[in-house]
Amino acid sequence: TKFKIAVLVGSLRRESWNRKMANALIKSASDSLSLEIINIGHLPFYNEDLEDTPPIEWIGFRKQLASFDGVLFVTPEYNRSVPAVLKNAIDVGSRPYGKSCWSGKPGAIISVSPGNIGAFGANHHLRQSLVFLNVPAMAQPEAYISAAAKLFDANGALINESTQEFLNNFLKAFTHWMDNNAEKK
Ligand code: FNR
Repeated sequence: TKFKIAVLVGSLRRESWNRKMANALIKSASDSLSLEIINIGHLPFYNEDLEDTPPIEWIGFRKQLASFDGVLFVTPEYNRSVPAVLKNAIDVGSRPYGKSCWSGKPGAIISVSPGNIGAFGANHHLRQSLVFLNVPAMAQPEAYISAAAKLFDANGALINESTQEFLNNFLKAFTHWMDNNAEKK
């Protein structure tokens, strides 16, 4: 494997479409990428007062994140923006000031909704944070996955061929993006 990619899923729901999508991506990844879902649901809410003795969950998350070459966000949209659980993980990883875990790690975003506009709002609000965090976010192909409830079977496997093809292309482009933007070791 060339690149280790942390997958952050913006939903904690057991039957989450976004988690199913993340699993489909893991299955679709070529030998160049290894994708691994990183848990974010256990992280205490960010509070600067805690930085003197940071919660063990923050320490573990920051350490884990540091071991990855890139990051792939798979997220729903809550009220036209990024779900709080994902924003919290981004904030936790970004501090203490000057020690952000994000800086320089290339990223990509796939937003997923059962609705019709593919969580576009969350996708783009997330990009705003990534600019500040110095995460070069892949621009194309954009991935706004709509009508998610129609894409998976009862076991959570992706059954839509054109979506599968799209994911294959997306991952191929992301591999190129990693090749061109990952920090040299
Ligand atoms: C939603 N949902 C939603 N969907 C959407 O397309 N745009 C939106 O702005 C919102 N807003 C929103 C707010 C809140 C608080 C909830 C709980 C839900 C619906 C959402 O897309 C749906 O619940 C998805 O199933 C969530 O993704 P997972 O959990 O299936 O991955």
